[in-house]
Amino acid sequence: MKRTRICDLLGIEHPIIQGGMTWIANAELAAAVSEAGALGIISPNAAMRLEGDVVENLRSQIRKAKSLTDKPFGVNLPVQIPECKELIDVVIEEGVKVVTTSAGNPALHTPRLKEGGVKVLHVVASVRHAKGAERHGVDAVIAEGYEAGGHNGFDELPTFVLVPQVVEAVSIPVVAAGGIADARGFVAALALGAEGVQMGTRFVATHECVAHQNFKEMIVKATDTGTMITGRKLGPTRGIKNEFTAKLLEMDKRGASAEEILAFIGVGRSRMGQLEGKVQEGEVYCGAIAGVISEIVSAGEVVRSIVDSYSRVVANL
Ligand SMILES: Cc1cc2nc3c(=O)[nH]c(=O)nc-3n(C[C@H](O)[C@H](O)[C@H](O)COP(=O)(O)O)c2cc1C
Repeated sequence: MKRTRICDLLGIEHPIIQGGMTWIANAELAAAVSEAGALGIISPNAAMRLEGDVVENLRSQIRKAKSLTDKPFGVNLPVQIPECKELIDVVIEEGVKVVTTSAGNPALHTPRLKEGGVKVLHVVASVRHAKGAERHGVDAVIAEGYEAGGHNGFDELPTFVLVPQVVEAVSIPVVAAGGIADARGFVAALALGAEGVQMGTRFVATHECVAHQNFKEMIVKATDTGTMITGRKLGPTRGIKNEFTAKLLEMDKRGASAEEILAFIGVGRSRMGQLEGKVQEGEVYCGAIAGVISEIVSAGEVVRSIVDSYSRVVANL
């Protein structure tokens, strides 16, 4: 298995990161991924009640992960969330050494995280944003194509196109995300110049992930055309096609206003789909790669199967 600058930067064996995932990137998942030699990531609201205290929830998730592994793990901070400053306090107080930041300006929190001894990897969806993140001092960028589950960049660049251009534009390490679920995708990402991969959807369909069983089974059943992008007016988001996306599509077609769409989505729609298992009514973030995922396995098996198949995939080229 290839070692890259990402391994040295993060203190991990294999350059594989489990992406932050709102509501479902829980301590047990992160710890299992880290135990397998990759980097697990906790989301602040993992497994939380809708009205829960996100700051205290993060602290308890971090403590749980520490009780399960001595290996490094990280935290994902979507920088636009109102509690971001308090969440950074928790990260630093608890001694977490890696943060992935997303959905916002890296200038906001990178200096404070770096002063606290935290390595920062920022998620970008264009060359311009990658250059900006490098200028603001992040340690690496995660170049995420619009194959990815969850929120995507407005320009909807695919991973295959985005990664090599970001690699050419910055000198810090680049991690590829979006559309990767196995050793084939891992090798392809490295061929494009990435020094690691981040996967979300593949890690949802694992025993340790707190996602509802209905969500995991939906991933296993999904075909190549099982996901779609909605919300182009507000922020493109990839999820499983269901009654919720059909309603959004219908609203888009008749030109519904952003206000009407927001009112329909309401609060906690993705929690409903992902954690409560109401997979028709709720929003279910999911990557287009779901079509290649055919079973629910342990998080360690996901990492080990990439490590074990790596040489065979390279030899077959
Ligand atoms: C269910 C789900 C929730 C996600 N939530 C977040 C999030 O809260 N913050 C974030 O930075 N990325 C989020 N992502 C993106 C992942 O971290 C990761 O970059 C992405 O899933 C990679 O693409 P893939 O789904 O093709 O593996 C989410 C992805 C999924 C599938």
